[in-house]
Amino acid sequence: MSKQLLLGMVFGNGYGAQPGAWRMPGVDPMGFTNFDNLVRYAKMAERGKFQFLFMPDFPALKPDTGTDARQLNIEPMMTLAAVARGTDRIGMVATGSTTFSEPFNLARQFKALDLMSHGRAGWNAVPTSDPAIAANYGRALPPRAEKYERLHEFIQIVQGLWGSWGRDAWLHDQESGLFADMTKIRPVNLRGRHLSTSGPLPLPPSEQGQPVIFQAGGGDQGLEVAGRYASGVIGAVFSMADAKAQRAALRTAAERAGRDPDEIKFFAGLMTTIAPDRRAALDRRIAMSGHSFEPRIGYLGQMIGLALDPAQLDEPLTAAQLAAARPSPQDPRSAHALKVASEGWSLRDVLAHGVIDYHPMIVGPAAEAADHMQTWFEAEACDGFWLCPDVYEDGLPPLVDDVVPILQERGLFHLDYAGATLRDHLEAPPQYGRDPRLM
Ligand SMILES: Cc1cc2nc3c(=O)[nH]c(=O)nc-3n(C[C@H](O)[C@H](O)[C@H](O)COP(=O)(O)O)c2cc1C
Repeated sequence: MSKQLLLGMVFGNGYGAQPGAWRMPGVDPMGFTNFDNLVRYAKMAERGKFQFLFMPDFPALKPDTGTDARQLNIEPMMTLAAVARGTDRIGMVATGSTTFSEPFNLARQFKALDLMSHGRAGWNAVPTSDPAIAANYGRALPPRAEKYERLHEFIQIVQGLWGSWGRDAWLHDQESGLFADMTKIRPVNLRGRHLSTSGPLPLPPSEQGQPVIFQAGGGDQGLEVAGRYASGVIGAVFSMADAKAQRAALRTAAERAGRDPDEIKFFAGLMTTIAPDRRAALDRRIAMSGHSFEPRIGYLGQMIGLALDPAQLDEPLTAAQLAAARPSPQDPRSAHALKVASEGWSLRDVLAHGVIDYHPMIVGPAAEAADHMQTWFEAEACDGFWLCPDVYEDGLPPLVDDVVPILQERGLFHLDYAGATLRDHLEAPPQYGRDPRLM
């Protein structure tokens, strides 16, 4: 367990993590394509000493894009290239598919970003699961087993390419006229069932040697991937118990692969709407996403075992409803939803608490977010958090200026970056080329 927690932030759509972020007052409605804004938000996160930005990627238009811009980003590598040149310390993790790209292209782009950023790049290696993405590549989704077989080959080939120049192969010696020591640049010559490469990659090592590997997503196969290669895991967990179980499973998977479990840092998601008090935060949340509450009331009912009607949105549950309510075992968020409902909030306010969001949600003052993080971290449920602020423009500053100082005062978060690279920030061990323990 590291002594202090680590922070990442989801990044890339130009607006924030809530569906209505793009419509909020003071938000540039064209933020989607505004790189000055993106760099400004990255700098804000860097002012908060966050260890990394995390860029998801789903390269297919979503059916809800008519009203919702959350899933959009221009393109991860181009975006992070701009961010790399506008920031100095923060790490940047981009998602790259092992299903629909070629290892040589991906190795080259990520190494280029790593060189450009002086060792701050990370790769979230994901198999693609969305048929709409597959269709964009003119292909069908391969069967799951094949997808993961390809993923293992892919990561090993990429790491082989990354390590194909000896650490000291690049001489750039103007006196002698020797640019590179060709005896220290080796071919890769890896051949798998799905992929192969001869190599070498014509790029020297970066300040951190090579990018750091991240993994996102669960299941037994995902666990094996993380156990073998990942330094960071982007988790999706609703309860502390769930987070503890996932972190423990990851640590066991790392041990199975012959690694030290402390080499993997597990990040739990945390969504935030920060305001001076609960009422102000709920109102902010209603202004932002309240338009989506009416259609969700039926689902809220299913979560707590009641048939609920939109006509009750501004009323709390009645005593009879409360007596009959039961959390649904089908949805891990149900017990929390019922707890909030039983506090007497109107159903609109219950939904504004984010009880149907895809991570735990803080809707309240900065200290509540700090308390949540402290509780989970001290229970060893995670090594840190990936933060999803509701809106970057005015929802990120309270994280940086209010939440982070509380964590720092409590000794839970670093005061400044100690090292220069993402590997330093994560305290990930040095690695160059493939991991010899896995060969
Ligand atoms: C928190 C989290 C973030 C993810 N981010 C991405 C992403 O950005 N792009 C993507 O294609 N898949 C992403 N995934 C999906 C996973 O990579 C994986 O495809 C999914 O969990 C299904 O895994 P399976 O094929 O083993 O069932 C993410 C998953 C989780 C849990």
